[in-house]
Amino acid sequence: MDAGLISRERTAERLLAASAKHSFDPDTDLDWDAPLEEGKWFWPPELLSLYDTPLWKHMSEEQRMELSRHEAASLCSIGVWFETILMQLLLRHTYDLDPTSGHVRYALTEIADECRHSKMFARAVTKLGTPAYRPSRLDHQLGRLIKTISTTPGSFTGTLLAKEILDWIQRLTFPDERVQTLTRGITRIHVVEEARHIRYAREELRRQMETAPRWEIEFTRLSSAQAARVIARSLISPKVYESIGLDPRYAAEMARTSPHRREVMRQSAKRLMDFFEEVGLIRGPSRKLWRSSGLL
Ligand SMILES: [Fe+2]
Ligand SMILES: [Fe+2]
Repeated sequence: MDAGLISRERTAERLLAASAKHSFDPDTDLDWDAPLEEGKWFWPPELLSLYDTPLWKHMSEEQRMELSRHEAASLCSIGVWFETILMQLLLRHTYDLDPTSGHVRYALTEIADECRHSKMFARAVTKLGTPAYRPSRLDHQLGRLIKTISTTPGSFTGTLLAKEILDWIQRLTFPDERVQTLTRGITRIHVVEEARHIRYAREELRRQMETAPRWEIEFTRLSSAQAARVIARSLISPKVYESIGLDPRYAAEMARTSPHRREVMRQSAKRLMDFFEEVGLIRGPSRKLWRSSGLL
């Protein structure tokens, strides 16, 4: 076995051991029957898309809380969409590999984690009593295209984009005492299990970027910058604004141009963008596309 494969196996074994020790079953580990708490946020206010905009200043406290309920539900709904794509990409990754390797066994363990997460997010949306928010029709189709034609390094780049942005947001959410117990429980479970997924994807992406053919790297730079745009704009469905009685176009424009929101998005992706720079994903003509995602 060459050095790359040895380190790949070593990582997988470590992650398998950590998974055996520290995994959750959200169906039994969370109290789904407990009533939602009066006067608590469903998501930290500073992380809401309209926070600190001129529109926010005109909203009542009740309306702000309602926004937090719908934005939490949008993140959960869109989370299921992301994870459905990630599960497919990961399964595709294993197709050519040795099924007895630790690397494949860990990929399957991760898919099992994601199955539980997606069920948890779907259950949360039901509990929050909101519509199941979906990406726009265009992004839904782009997701289908990306998960079908994505390269292997592209798959791990997309995976990290979805995971690390949400990870940063969720790390601020689970310790927040102003927030609903259910939200805190969901985000805590997700942060703990995703830390392993992030580790796996980062190490694999680094290996892929060293060994993939040139055309694949070039294609990955452009396609993952495009994926970054789709992911960033899909997190909050404009329909959440409609649900709380705001003009969805006007509110979406407020969020899009909000300096606070822009800073939150950039912050959430900061560590990941540094890593992408380091492994050579943000080069040449792709840089402009990365910038337009609002993450760089
Ligand atoms: Fe997940
Ligand atoms: Fe994950």
